[in-house]
Amino acid sequence: MDHQDLLASIWESLRAATTQRTGFTLATLATVTAAGQPRARSVIIRDFATDPERVYFATHTASDKLPEMLARPTVALMFYDAATSVQLRAEGQAQIIEDPAERHRVWDTLAPHSRELYAPTAPPGTPLETADAPDARTAFERFAWISIRLDRLDWLDLATDPHQRWQFQRTGTTWTGHPVVP
Ligand SMILES: Cc1cc2nc3c(=O)[nH]c(=O)nc-3n(C[C@H](O)[C@H](O)[C@H](O)COP(=O)(O)O)c2cc1C
Repeated sequence: MDHQDLLASIWESLRAATTQRTGFTLATLATVTAAGQPRARSVIIRDFATDPERVYFATHTASDKLPEMLARPTVALMFYDAATSVQLRAEGQAQIIEDPAERHRVWDTLAPHSRELYAPTAPPGTPLETADAPDARTAFERFAWISIRLDRLDWLDLATDPHQRWQFQRTGTTWTGHPVVP
């Protein structure tokens, strides 16, 4: 497989992760805190777009990861699909989508149980005994839509013998890649 074929299959696996539940649907997002500490958590990848390639996830506007991404937009994502034994690591630039029309478009696609996640008015992590009551009517105000433009990829396939690992880098609109020692 040449690097263009492999890249195309990576984009296809990210696209598939947003239309069905695959191993790549649940990613690990790593940010850096104000104190310079790494912090990782699970997020659901809900959309994939090209030109440039980016993935999207939703979060609460008051979650810690928002100010972390504003202060240091370079983030890391890790995907692992146990069904294919493929790990994909990515680094890229996070952007908080402000456009209300775009936020509304995505909000309209969310299932009721997903919208309920934005009913809490207190920031995630607030001690329960001090948290104000949830308000489902204003939930949309707390819905944040984040894109991560992918700039570097590290793909590791453990299903082959020997294992295969490729690294890719985007410069402008061009991706270059090469196989590396796993
Ligand atoms: C299976 C699973 C899926 C999750 N998906 C999301 C998500 O899409 N967006 C999100 O903000 N948090 C999601 N979470 C919760 C986060 O992992 C995290 O606990 C929460 O967002 C608070 O993180 P923060 O304090 O670093 O902002 C998910 C957790 C699990 C276990």
